[in-house]
Amino acid sequence: MKKMLGVVGFMGCAVLSGYAQQTTLTLDINKPGADVSPMLYGLMTEEINHSYDGGLYAELIRNRIFKDNKKIPDGWSLVKDNAADTANIKLMATSEEYVPYDERKHAINGSLTTCLRLTVEKASGRVGIANEGYWGIPVTPATAYKASFYLKGTERSEPFRWPWEPKPNTPPLADIPNNTPGPITVSIESKDGKTVYASGTIQLEKSMYWKKYELTLTTAGNIQPTKDARFVISTDRTGLYYFNLVSLFPPTFNNRENGNRQDLMQMLVDMKPKFLRFPGGNYLEGPLITDAFPWKTTLGMLENRPGHNGSWGYRASDGMGLLEFLEWCEDMGAEPLLGLYAGYSLQGDHVDSGPLLKTYIDDALDEIEYVTGDANTYWGAKRIADGHPAPFKLTYVEIGNEDWFDRSNSYDGRFKQFREAIEAKYPNLICISTIPATQYPSMSVKGKEAAVVDEHYYRNAWDMWENASQYDTYDRKGPKIFVGEWATREGIPTTNLNAAFGDAAWMTGMERNSDLIIMSCYAPLFVNVSKDSATGTRAWQWDSDLIGYDALNSYGSPSYYVQKLFNLYLGNKIVPATFENVPLQNKPLSKTDSAEGKKPVSAPTLFYSATRNDATGIIYLKIVNASAKKQNIKINLKCVATIEPEATMIVIKGNQPDDTNTIMNRENILPVTSTIKGIKTSFTKTIDPYSVNIIELKTGK
Ligand code: AHR
Repeated sequence: MKKMLGVVGFMGCAVLSGYAQQTTLTLDINKPGADVSPMLYGLMTEEINHSYDGGLYAELIRNRIFKDNKKIPDGWSLVKDNAADTANIKLMATSEEYVPYDERKHAINGSLTTCLRLTVEKASGRVGIANEGYWGIPVTPATAYKASFYLKGTERSEPFRWPWEPKPNTPPLADIPNNTPGPITVSIESKDGKTVYASGTIQLEKSMYWKKYELTLTTAGNIQPTKDARFVISTDRTGLYYFNLVSLFPPTFNNRENGNRQDLMQMLVDMKPKFLRFPGGNYLEGPLITDAFPWKTTLGMLENRPGHNGSWGYRASDGMGLLEFLEWCEDMGAEPLLGLYAGYSLQGDHVDSGPLLKTYIDDALDEIEYVTGDANTYWGAKRIADGHPAPFKLTYVEIGNEDWFDRSNSYDGRFKQFREAIEAKYPNLICISTIPATQYPSMSVKGKEAAVVDEHYYRNAWDMWENASQYDTYDRKGPKIFVGEWATREGIPTTNLNAAFGDAAWMTGMERNSDLIIMSCYAPLFVNVSKDSATGTRAWQWDSDLIGYDALNSYGSPSYYVQKLFNLYLGNKIVPATFENVPLQNKPLSKTDSAEGKKPVSAPTLFYSATRNDATGIIYLKIVNASAKKQNIKINLKCVATIEPEATMIVIKGNQPDDTNTIMNRENILPVTSTIKGIKTSFTKTIDPYSVNIIELKTGK
């Protein structure tokens, strides 16, 4: 049956050159269409490309607890206005390796074990520490920034030392005078220190113990926005100064404490996603078992979050912790789709099913309880104490991530053990398997089939066009499908228009089959597009992402607008349709293919989906033209009672497939909305070259 509805089933396809028969799309309102999944479009996220640290998570200080690099204080530098002054900064890695007691004792607690020491021997001018932020500190007019940090002063006396303790090889601290209580200046200033955008002081107390200092820095209303700024804490007095957990927050979305960047959140909220899959992706698993997302140490006060090794080559602060993920969902009106670490990590470490795996299952059950439990549960009460009384709605949990990489074939046993334990305690939760039989038949779960499986597709535009109708012929008796990661990978660092055509074509296929495809989410969502000005080193690890930003600005790729519009303009019923005489295009042959005498493969140039809102009668017709030619399509609407002569049309288009948006040219490709006239039960519409089109047809109910 499905073949009739899909692109592959079209009669009379023609190559897009020379004479072609009229392309006709016939929608049959009378035929009962399946329901569109109410959760079809969501988002997927993980810490990649500086998605949180240096991205959505609004903290502006890089390496705020000094653990990013064990050897040097990454992101920090010494400020010395007068070159003749004598000062230095030193990382005090108090518990990472063997260090003398007098250095080790500077830990604040078991999480804040590393600090930065500023030693000022001679100060005739300003001396301090500067943080460069994540490729700059963003400065905007009339903005209040919340700054805070832990600071303690000199301990002058010779520290206690056991007889067997070696003498420290650091300078003899007793020679450096105690610092004196008094003002410490805190500022946001240009990188050369010449322009101060905001500044304030705290009064350093006479104490040799850690104390938290807080202040608000407010910029003037008349400054030009810039990201070429730094954050500085400075003194004009000699002494030793120890710093930890240095933080600077701009205003956040919904004014959440420890919250998210406003511009990025607004872009996500505008997409109206139905769910958020987190915390990964690879970030869930970590390179090693010990690097898996440590949800328990991401809760509560920042003082208790040591951070952990991420999966993409940099350390995660865990400022974006489990509750922050959940509140992010809440702020978007989306449901969490929780990835549970299932005992397999990226470098192949795994734990077989059996008694050892039980620890991981218990941890996952605790995590589910934190998300959904009430005050009578241990972890529910913990969430309430953390500031969120209401439990979160949770329908789906995913057991692991891409476990087809686990060549030990242990997933079958691991999945079964997780599912049984979860279903026993939470009978309504649906456990998603990460191994779909369609892609990995020999590795998929045996015995009781998973109700939902997660398929991942990273393809180029051509492959998307070729496979846009793959779901038309899928077995309806098998599990439901969650397309948990997918993207057309063209364009760097964010995707270009051709990628958007690949995406849109693929999405028409998911929509036509959304009785089967119950959820889908594009990946990766975010990319910090900054480059180090001196070395050219890029802030990102994965090319072709949906939303780009630097410290100051953000923009959507053409794919972003496709994602957004496909979700906003979606009915609740699939409209059965036939598409005839769809022109084809040939894939250019590679040199090798040509030398081997291979025949070119072809794919359609046009793609469609039609859904209808049965309450309003509006039909959302989506048509993608992935070719360089205008195409006339005859559109027939069978069995509609009435139709309004005007329709709304939204178009995303460009001149070239590689047209795109960039951080410097953020609005090159934007959707354009217009009203089209002459709509009847049969009308012909010219579809522009290289375009994604949504037509809102107002039919009678
Ligand atoms: O989206 C980037 C990565 O691709 C994800 O972390 C992983 O699940 C997949 O391989």
